[in-house]
Amino acid sequence: TTKKFTVEKIDYIYERLRTQITSNESSITSQSYVFFIIGASGDLAKRKIYPTLWWLYRDGVLPKNISFIGYSRSQLTIEQIFENSHKYMKIQEDEHDIYEKFLKLNSYISGSYDKSEDFENLNSKANKISHQVNAHRLFYLALPPNVYESVSELISKHCRAASPGWLRLIIEKPFGKDLESSNKFSQHLNKLYTEEEIYRIDHYLGKEMVQNILVLRFSNRIFSRVWNRDSIAGVQIIFKEKIGTHRHGSYFDEVGIIRDVIQNHLMQILSILAMEKPRSTTGEDIRDEKVKVLRCIAPIKLENVIVGQYIGDKKSTDSERQLGYLDDKNVPKDSTTPTYAQIIVFIKNERWDGVPFILRAGKALNERKAEIRIQFRDVPGRMFDEELSENNVEGTLARDELVIRIQPDEAIYLKINTKRPGEMNFSIEETELDLTYNERYQGVKLPNAYERLILDVFMGSKINFVRSDELQEAWRIIDPILAEIEKKKLQIIPYKFGAIGIREAFDAAVKQGFIYT
Ligand code: NDP
Ligand code: BG6
Repeated sequence: TTKKFTVEKIDYIYERLRTQITSNESSITSQSYVFFIIGASGDLAKRKIYPTLWWLYRDGVLPKNISFIGYSRSQLTIEQIFENSHKYMKIQEDEHDIYEKFLKLNSYISGSYDKSEDFENLNSKANKISHQVNAHRLFYLALPPNVYESVSELISKHCRAASPGWLRLIIEKPFGKDLESSNKFSQHLNKLYTEEEIYRIDHYLGKEMVQNILVLRFSNRIFSRVWNRDSIAGVQIIFKEKIGTHRHGSYFDEVGIIRDVIQNHLMQILSILAMEKPRSTTGEDIRDEKVKVLRCIAPIKLENVIVGQYIGDKKSTDSERQLGYLDDKNVPKDSTTPTYAQIIVFIKNERWDGVPFILRAGKALNERKAEIRIQFRDVPGRMFDEELSENNVEGTLARDELVIRIQPDEAIYLKINTKRPGEMNFSIEETELDLTYNERYQGVKLPNAYERLILDVFMGSKINFVRSDELQEAWRIIDPILAEIEKKKLQIIPYKFGAIGIREAFDAAVKQGFIYT
């Protein structure tokens, strides 16, 4: 059906999985796997991790001998965990039998995040459940960052499988709060794990269109020749959300939109868009290039930053929209935490010198959208002046623009100029070469980001995970402005819940040479 992986896809994934099995594992069915969800009682586990594991199991892409162990402090049963997650699992009528099978592979253990004996207990339960002391083990830390250090230490000390069983540790952002804390945490992990064992999730790297950037750039001659400062006038990477921060205001106030979205998701997109061609598609080669390009970016200057905070729209009929950021009782009344930010970065290398990369993100806006807009330079030599002055209000040729829409409705479209059909003269109009996925690829299921990424961890593929040096570079670029914002050096521009954005941000883009058509 359209909802499931195709048979070909399953075969392909199994083939890749098989290649991961080391020589002393005779077949995929003899090796056991244990997937641990640490923080199983939490929101992420409930909404994303359990449903994702269920979908992967249902679609038959997980190894055969697998068990799942949930762990957190709450005294719960596995049935209660599943009940909480039920509405996110989207179980169909004909899936109940397989769902029961999946449930039977799951168990739950309660324990602390800081006591050796609890992790020793977890370890012996895992041995018992998997009937093997050398099962491969995957640990998903679905926990708040204040317990990352102790939990990662206790896992490494007490929960390693006997050889040849490997361990893979999956960690969610935030990876620190600034350069210093991020480095400190990386050093902590480096003492306990090899970089090979660590999988830092940035779920944007699991999105279809983000993954497509590599293919688009490096398998099309038409793009590879123009992907530089000679042809590109500027790049915008835009993230917009309709929802505000209510219900998690206390978390958001510590973080702000720059740490929440720009430092990770948008910087990751930037590095893939701007990097040189990697030597191969291996994780190491790709990440080497991503780091290299990040190294060419200087720390952001204050003058290239615009920040805003949303206020309630008192006229709205929607009660949520009437509330501003500061109306949340968990947010201090004088908070200057930005809920909207635009930063402009420049890459000092031969390919990109002088080209502005505009990273813009905001909560409580008019729509949910994430997209990349690559605007090309004007066509030199004015051949169509006469036609343009007749037909085009501005009297100029519209610029070509390549748009990669990450969400919603994945699409790639190229805005071009064309002769208005049927007219006798050279009347020009702007149109699009349009690859909208749900029209072109009807019925193809796009797995969600967590499905892809968790499967990648099983397969040991590092392409879509963040390496510690990438992280360090991203913090280095962002860090100085975070400090300035904390010192309240930047004016916070108010915008209404539901606004398109902040005028000053659009003006700054225009000043950098962007033309809005
Ligand atoms: P939760 O706040 O739901 O915490 C997960 C579990 O950790 C809780 O069920 C609780 O389990 C335990 N816990 C909560 N607070 C504390 C505390 N102060 N000290 C010790 N244990 C605590 O977090 P989420 O599930 O929302 O997020 C987990 C991680 O994933 C975080 O790092 C978050 O930043 C990240 N993340 C979450 C997203 C989401 O959609 N929720 C999206 C992207 C990233 P118990 O009390 O039973 O031990
Ligand atoms: C998370 C941010 O990383 O990404 C959230 O912490 C944000 O604030 C979310 O809402 C957006 O993810 P998506 O996949 O819904 O675009």
